[in-house]
Amino acid sequence: MQICRSVEEVRRLRPAMKAMGFVPTMGFLHEGHLSLVRQAAAENDTVAVSIFVNPLQFDSAADLDHYPRAVERDLALLEKEGVDLVFLPTAELLYPPGFATRVEVGGVADRLEGPARPGHFSGVATVVAKLFNILQPQQAYFGRKDAQQCAVISRMVHDLNLPVEVVTAPTFRESDGLAASSRNARLTPAQRRQAPALYQALEAARQAFSEGERNRARLEALMTRTLAEQLGENAPDAEGRRAWETDYATIVDPDTFVPSETLGEEALALLAVRLGEVRLIDNMLLNSA
Ligand code: PAJ
Repeated sequence: MQICRSVEEVRRLRPAMKAMGFVPTMGFLHEGHLSLVRQAAAENDTVAVSIFVNPLQFDSAADLDHYPRAVERDLALLEKEGVDLVFLPTAELLYPPGFATRVEVGGVADRLEGPARPGHFSGVATVVAKLFNILQPQQAYFGRKDAQQCAVISRMVHDLNLPVEVVTAPTFRESDGLAASSRNARLTPAQRRQAPALYQALEAARQAFSEGERNRARLEALMTRTLAEQLGENAPDAEGRRAWETDYATIVDPDTFVPSETLGEEALALLAVRLGEVRLIDNMLLNSA
């Protein structure tokens, strides 16, 4: 496994590597990341992974500071998966003094996570465009856990004619349904026990949809109600802060992320919930099956 810390090293090694599958990550790897690595390995001659906690996509300095890191452990996991190349840049390398360019995606990036985290998708699109240009993969793998991120990257690749195929992969869940996430490590044990509430709310919507419910307001109310039942007691503390808070619980068109009044055969249910200090997101495709 080659560990590259500079663009020059990647450029030197890249020509000898054949068709490459690329998995961009921010590290603190879990089974969700590794499922993408395994799919990339099954579908390509070589696999590259990047580990970079991208400051450009964090809207709060505290969130960036608290983002968990474990590079040595990550490298050992990737070595075991047979990964060919790991790109480990620093912020100084990717954003040297004078750096002044941003990739701004409109449309799908302007909804839900867009306004909730100003600058987030611009930061994601900018770093992913840079990583694509540095690694020049044939295929790049993204998890549907971050469904809106998948849509934003696909939009960018299409709009900028980037020579990469975007592959999206299913959400890896823990046995209780909680979607694996590096952020789960920041939950207290009590919050960790509550966190499957997101999955249960999505499952309730999926069940109702499959039984024929097509009223968006009723499906959204069902998710909100399930969250309240599962997460329980939520009186404000002395500082007026609640134990949990639903940022959004919504049903959108899976292609445009626009909430459509009339739901067809497929819809996407999306949740963002703050549990203590941790903001969790999850989603589920609803269809008639
Ligand atoms: P990160 O949160 O580390 O996630 C890296 C990739 O793993 C993303 O494509 C994400 O959707 C996927 N992933 C995370 N949890 C998953 C799960 N439970 N099941 C399946 N896939 C999962 O997303 C980012 O990093 C960054 O925004 C990045 C794209 C690297 C740009 O900085």
